[in-house]
Amino acid sequence: MSYLIRQMGHIALATPDPEGSAQDLAEISGPRIIARTSDLVTLSSNNRRHEVGYFKSSRKAALAIGLEAINAEAVGEVRRRAMDHGCKILSERSYFPNIEKALRFLTPEGPIFEVHTPVPRDQNARYVGHGVHPVRLEHVNVRVENAKAFGGLCEAVFGMRLSDRTTNDELQWLRAADGFHHTLAIGTGEAKLHHYGFDARCFEDLAKVADTLALKSRTMLWGPGRHGAGDNIFTYYADPNGCVVENSIEMERIDCDDVYAPRTWSLGPESRVRNLWGPLEGPEYRAAGIPFALEP
Ligand SMILES: [Fe+2]
Repeated sequence: MSYLIRQMGHIALATPDPEGSAQDLAEISGPRIIARTSDLVTLSSNNRRHEVGYFKSSRKAALAIGLEAINAEAVGEVRRRAMDHGCKILSERSYFPNIEKALRFLTPEGPIFEVHTPVPRDQNARYVGHGVHPVRLEHVNVRVENAKAFGGLCEAVFGMRLSDRTTNDELQWLRAADGFHHTLAIGTGEAKLHHYGFDARCFEDLAKVADTLALKSRTMLWGPGRHGAGDNIFTYYADPNGCVVENSIEMERIDCDDVYAPRTWSLGPESRVRNLWGPLEGPEYRAAGIPFALEP
């Protein structure tokens, strides 16, 4: 099966406070605010017009996980496959402006995706301002009741490939055509967006994230540590809406699809799949995340 998704796209988040949410993300993780209207504040950490959008709403929720299709035809192919797999088409237009073609749909397990043609690359890659200025929005992590079924659906509909899994598919990591170990991570639980992750530049940047949190009288939820699956050095904190933000470095690259074989990790007490360095995540980390919503 060939890839229909090239890489992580944009994420659309609903919040009562788009401006405050955007300022918080900019001050800590470091993408800068690109544009604002009364209903939407967008941010980007590179030359893209947007990576994250906070939409004005009465609720705190995830509106869509964006995945960039390899081309416009791939959006149509995803549409055919999504319908074959019991997904409900919600819209043929993106939540965001400046997207040529998009498809938004609800999966049977609850997550909502937007598969879309590329976000315009017309901004300066470098910029002034606070925060650690990461490389890019890198991946998302969702929770669903039936992770095995959901992972299979994502492989079938998106043409994504399995990079790692746990014994009974409680956790799965799927990659897109760009070769990063995962664009989509799946865990087991009530359906929600658990976290969105930025690719930072160096370990010192992760310390700067922690220092900024401390200045705001907040702390990390988990980390630093190094994931077994993905090999990235991670840190996590909660955003003002209750979703988790990951800042990490050194995610594994799959250089050659033809020779890579997915690994299977146990989830037993000896397992290092989640942290090679030290302790597992706490209850606050597990409980965090925001539900998916059909509209702002
Ligand atoms: Fe992650």
